[in-house]
Amino acid sequence: MTRQPLLTSLTALTALTAMGLLAACGSAPPEAPVSTAPGEAKTITAKAMADGLHAVMSADRTVYTRLIVNRLQNEEKLIKASEHWKEDKALVLPAQMFRFGAEMVAESKPPFSYSLQSLWPINQQNAPKTEAEKAGLAYIAENKGKNYYAEETLGGVKYFTAVYPDNAIAPACVSCHNEHADTPRTDFKLGDVMGGVVIRIPVDA
Ligand code: HEC
Repeated sequence: MTRQPLLTSLTALTALTAMGLLAACGSAPPEAPVSTAPGEAKTITAKAMADGLHAVMSADRTVYTRLIVNRLQNEEKLIKASEHWKEDKALVLPAQMFRFGAEMVAESKPPFSYSLQSLWPINQQNAPKTEAEKAGLAYIAENKGKNYYAEETLGGVKYFTAVYPDNAIAPACVSCHNEHADTPRTDFKLGDVMGGVVIRIPVDA
């Protein structure tokens, strides 16, 4: 794993603000960047940026599942609705919530991209494609609690790629996936690694 200075603190701050991190500060106004003079700006590593982005994504995902999805009492109905997720607009699943956010973020062409994937995907589009994605998803499934960091070159561009475990934090995660018509795996348990969040940041060669 390498630590490469990457972005000015200002750029990183803008990205994290867009992700809602600073919203957590409540009414207190965020402090101005320490250094704004050209050439003097502080830098952060690609890893620090990926870790920060992931902290926001993970919190949003957990809150949505605990406060919204878990409140839907009728689990039968929930699972049935999820089987029609392609056409049924009534229920926004946690994974859809995540992807809609990722698509909206991508529109502003930020210096990173992210997605939710799995080695056992309900939706085949969420299967890993690159070597780093495959290795990363296998690693986090076998090494509970650990993240995976790698560098990969795609289309001539060098990327820092981070893969974070996506865990079954609520009974609804387990029951919906295990009972879903399209799932390739039916033995998920509470706390299991069900997939991973992949964050990719271009870095200078
Ligand atoms: C009500 C059903 C339902 C619930 C609850 C649910 N999921 Fe999913 N999940 C799905 C469906 C359907 C997809 C595919 C949707 C898509 O790609 O748009 C999916 C996608 C995923 C993916 C991407 C890989 C794949 O299977 O396509 C992961 C990882 C995942 N879910 C983990 C979780 C976790 C962790 C939770 C709990 C926090 C959870 N899910 C809750 C139905 C559900």
